[in-house]
Amino acid sequence: MTEEKRVVLDVEDLCKDFVLENGSRLSAVDHVSFQIREGECFAVIGESGCGKTTLAKLITRVEEATSGRVIFQDRDITALGRGKMKSVLRDMQMIFQNVLSVVSPKMKIQDFLLEPYRNFRLMPKREALENIRRMLKSVRLTEAVLKKYPHQLSGGELQRICISRAFGMNPQLLICDEITSALDVSVQDDVMKLFRELQSQHGIACLFICHDLALVSNYSDRIMVMYLGQNVEIIDSADLGTKALHPYTRGLLQSFLFISSDRGRAIRTISGEPQSPVDVSANCRFCTRCPKASSRCFEEVPPLREVGPGHYVACFLLE
Ligand SMILES: Nc1ncnc2c1ncn2[C@@H]1O[C@H](COP(=O)(O)OP(=O)(O)OP(=O)(O)O)[C@@H](O)[C@H]1O
Ligand SMILES: [Mg+2]
Repeated sequence: MTEEKRVVLDVEDLCKDFVLENGSRLSAVDHVSFQIREGECFAVIGESGCGKTTLAKLITRVEEATSGRVIFQDRDITALGRGKMKSVLRDMQMIFQNVLSVVSPKMKIQDFLLEPYRNFRLMPKREALENIRRMLKSVRLTEAVLKKYPHQLSGGELQRICISRAFGMNPQLLICDEITSALDVSVQDDVMKLFRELQSQHGIACLFICHDLALVSNYSDRIMVMYLGQNVEIIDSADLGTKALHPYTRGLLQSFLFISSDRGRAIRTISGEPQSPVDVSANCRFCTRCPKASSRCFEEVPPLREVGPGHYVACFLLE
């Protein structure tokens, strides 16, 4: 258990409503709370549109929260001004899925890697390059990549370059948004092994956004399951297969075929239509698809309750 470790990120009751052109409100993140501790890999999973990227944008203040707080290293950063936020962002690095959209096609890898050292005025170029070479070695790349352009490298190589850049800043928190989704399955595994190795070496906390349940259960410490903006369950990754309780988490598990799964097991998808996230009423967002929903589930938001050590579930059916 990671209980005694320092809390690096504390997200309290975070909400984000987008006001659409016709005046209606889209609730993308709905009262989400969780903590991430030093050295921990905290995964966020859930289907497309459930608010994972919005959550990352709220933490990094790319988007402003409608309500709630983000406490980073004991400091409330929810309302920090731009200047102060810039220095916070050095300690909070992000890695995205589509690396090529981050790396300009006209930029040599060396310049891409030097960029944060220049932006944060960290050290002279020579020292920065030494650091960069060391980090490239740690992601098993040679310095020959420094002279190349992004299109001359594979997706896996580019992602490893982004990982080396983020770790090179020695952050307190790394936010990874679908960093393996664009890669082949065999490359995904290599990148994840490398990532976890570096993460434990550096003791960095990580918010790992991913929609691949099998990948996440292998490589993270804890998992938060989101459904249409709501945080429905937080569970230790090792317990996911056996102790998950929320009907949505259970539905997800039944719809996945793990490598270790019994080949004869039937795969069941979650039936029913998801609710629209626009102008939602206060209820459990999963009520329209839950096989056991009661009238209360349609009328009230279930609170997130601790049901076992470090295991939280938001579901009336468990009361
Ligand atoms: N700027 C915006 N304006 C209006 N609606 C938005 C905006 N950004 C996101 N949304 C909506 O918020 C919801 C959550 O989107 P988000 O991108 O966070 O989902 P996601 O879980 O990251 O999905 P994916 O797995 O496809 O990346 C979606 O319904 C999306 O359409
Ligand atoms: Mg996303």
